[in-house]
This record gives sequence, structure tokens and C-alpha cells, in this order.
Amino acid sequence: MTTRSADTLNALPGSTLRTTTGNWVDGDQFFGRDSELHQLRERLDAGDHILLSAMRRIGKTSLMRETIRRMKGEYRTVFVDLESCGDFTEAVAHLAAGMSKHVSVLSKIKSWFKDGVDNLDEVQIADLTVRLRDRIGAGWRDRGDEVLATMAAGSPRVVVFIDELPILLGKCLRTETGDVSADGRREVEQFMLWLRWNAQQHQGRLSFVFAGSIGIEPLLRSVGLSASLNNVVSVNLEPWDTETALSCWGALGRNYDLEIDYAAGERMAERLGVCIPYHVQLFFDRVRDDARRRKARTVTLTDVDRVYAERMLRAQGGQDLHHMEERLRLAIRKPLQALAFDLLTQAAVTPALTASAALELAGRRVPPDTTDAALREVFETLEHDGYLDLGPHGHVFLSHLLRDFWERRFRRGFRPAGVDGGGHS
Ligand SMILES: Nc1ncnc2c1ncn2[C@@H]1O[C@H](COP(=O)(O)OP(=O)(O)O)[C@@H](O)[C@H]1O
Ligand SMILES: [Mg+2]
Repeated sequence: MTTRSADTLNALPGSTLRTTTGNWVDGDQFFGRDSELHQLRERLDAGDHILLSAMRRIGKTSLMRETIRRMKGEYRTVFVDLESCGDFTEAVAHLAAGMSKHVSVLSKIKSWFKDGVDNLDEVQIADLTVRLRDRIGAGWRDRGDEVLATMAAGSPRVVVFIDELPILLGKCLRTETGDVSADGRREVEQFMLWLRWNAQQHQGRLSFVFAGSIGIEPLLRSVGLSASLNNVVSVNLEPWDTETALSCWGALGRNYDLEIDYAAGERMAERLGVCIPYHVQLFFDRVRDDARRRKARTVTLTDVDRVYAERMLRAQGGQDLHHMEERLRLAIRKPLQALAFDLLTQAAVTPALTASAALELAGRRVPPDTTDAALREVFETLEHDGYLDLGPHGHVFLSHLLRDFWERRFRRGFRPAGVDGGGHS
């Protein structure tokens, strides 16, 4: 419970914080998450492999980066981001390049280029990744085994952080039209089995942390591959609670000499609906910018309402929210995408998306004998990826910010279900 101990957020106890609305954060830009850092560390100390999945912008990459920062000297760490990878050869090239800062791995890599004239000590990581991709080719499995084994052989122990794994899996699974291809499924299966084999092989000496903002579990389940993840412990990263968001705004306010009324802070949290750290930072940034224009040092409830209406639903915030839209196209099979969009729009324009409305919408988009299965699959992803939550009256948006954005964007031309008493068209 939040106890109101102050009139402004700045008076709450705590430190100061530098603002950022860009990339991941660590060190003096990293706020809170004490118990998550502790839990992650405890799991890794116990030798577990971890799956860190949560919606976009909740701070997964930051949590991993801060963990890496705090592990210095106690573990050897490797961080790779697979978002830009197109296939598994490239993924292993990224992994090998990421590990090349460790001498033993670098000499292993050099041994692959024995016939060449390359001086690998001098090339940049990006360039090395390209050369490795060419060199590795179809042999990604053996080359991958070699670098992981080399890495695991040294000391201290190793943690390999693999960010945005499900994006790569999604890309490999689908053809250009968005359907699952048999080849893609086979390749994804091979890659997952390869990861699992290595995880078991180096148990106790090397741990994996996989992270991603589209659900890897629903994705694998939809193609019958969930067993490939059964040796991994799932850790969920939740949005901040209101109290944490208020303290964060307090810490930011202290740093930038901006006094936010307590009631204004509560209104900010209410507007967001869920306090996704990025949205917390973004709101502060907008409010601060607004105060600068007013040449003021204080923020009241009216200021917050104005900033929300005029600035939060647009500009940079809007662009980030567009990503929530794009990600759906990666997370959900093509034939079900239109249905997913309709369900979200219904949830945005009505108080809640009821089961009967969902059925009616499914009737418009998929063949009658597949409606149940389609709804189950779509809801699994929408719930898992943090779009919707099941409340007492039906599904509702978790994020009020996303709901308000979605309504503005998709309301026009949408025919809500249940309006004229049953879905005849
Ligand atoms: N622990 C944190 N402290 C302060 N800001 C954070 C924290 N976690 C996330 N953020 C904010 O959210 C943004 C996105 O964080 P990031 O780690 O990239 O999220 P994800 O990897 O889940 O998409 C950061 O730029 C920052 O503004
Ligand atoms: Mg990230």
C-alpha cells in the first residue's frame, strides 16, 4: 500500500535518478528491481537456465545488463541480441563474436580461419560477425558447440544472455505470407534441441538466460515444440506497482528540480493503467518538457491531464505504441491477425471484451468450425504478451495508455460486436 507521506513526490524517501527514454539502462540510470535482481542472481548461482519473458519496454534488457554489471569478476558473461538475425547461422555468428572477447574463444575462432590471411585481432565485432557468418555457413551446430564448449571450459562460470530469441524463432518459422512452414518448424526444432543439448552438456558451468518480448512459450506450443524448453525456469518481469512508479518520479524530480504534486503523481499512474518503466520515464519526460515551456518548477493534476491528452498519445510515445502493433504480426499467425486486431479494437471501444462479442468477431474472420481454436490461440498470445487481461466482465487492456492509443487509431471503420443484437452483416 502507498502511504501518503508527502505533498510532493520529491519528498518521498529515496535517491536521485537520471532520466532516459532510449535504450536499456544500468548503473545510475537503473531504478528499483531489487527483488528481481536478487531472484535472477539466486537462480543463476544455483545453475538454472532462465527464460525471462515480459512485454516490450518493461526492462528485460536493462535487468540483464544490470545483472551483468553486478556480476563483474564473479562470472564471465556474454550478451547477444538476436533481433536483427535472419537465420541460425547468423545467430551462432553473433554468439561467437560476442564471446570473442574471451581469449580462449578468440583462438578457437582463429583456428577456423587457418587458411585465411585475416588478422582477427583488429576487426570490429560487427565485421567479425559478418566474416563468421560466411565461415560458419551450414555448420552452425558444430561451430556453436565448439565455442560454447570452449567458453564453458574456463573459469569462473559463464552466463550467456540471449536477448530477443523469440523474434528470430518467429522469423524462421514463417514463410513470407506469414504461414508456418514445415522447413521452418524443423529448423526451429533443431535449434531449440541444440540449445537444450548444450544447456545440459555444460550444466553447472554455463547458464543461459533467454529473453524476449513476444511469448516464446505460446510460439513453441503453437507448433508443438514446447518440450524443447522443459529444462528452463521461467521468470516473469512484472510492471512496476504504483508505489515504485511514484518513487521513481520522485527520484527523477529531485534530480531535475521538478516538484510533482502527490495527487498529480497518482493521476499519472492512473492514466498509464500499468506502470511499464518505459512509460513511467516517458511520462516524466513529457511532464518535464511541459514545465520547461511554462517556465515552471511544479506539476499539478491539471498539468498531468493536459500532457496526457496532448502529448502522451502522440510523438515518441505513439511510435513506441506502433511497435505493439507490429509485434502482433510477428507473434500471431497471419490467418489470425485480423481477428487479433478486431478483438483489441473491441476491447478499446467497449468497457470490456465479452466472450459473446469475441465469438461474433471470430465468426467474421475465421471459418465457423475453427472459431474456438482460433480464439484460444489468439487470447493466449494477447494475454501472455501483456495486451489483455481477463477481468470480471471480460477482457480489458492492461495498459490504459495502449487502450487510448488503440482506440484513436482503430476506432474509425470498426463495427463493434453485439451492437445490433447479433452479428448479421
Ligand atoms: N530498472 C529501470 N530503471 C529505470 N528505467 C527503466 C528500467 N527498466 C526499464 N526502464 C525504462 O524502460 C526503457 C526500456 O528498457 P529495456 O530494458 O530496453 O526494456 P525491454 O528490454 O523490456 O524492452 C528504458 O530506456 C528506460 O527508459
Ligand atoms: Mg529489450
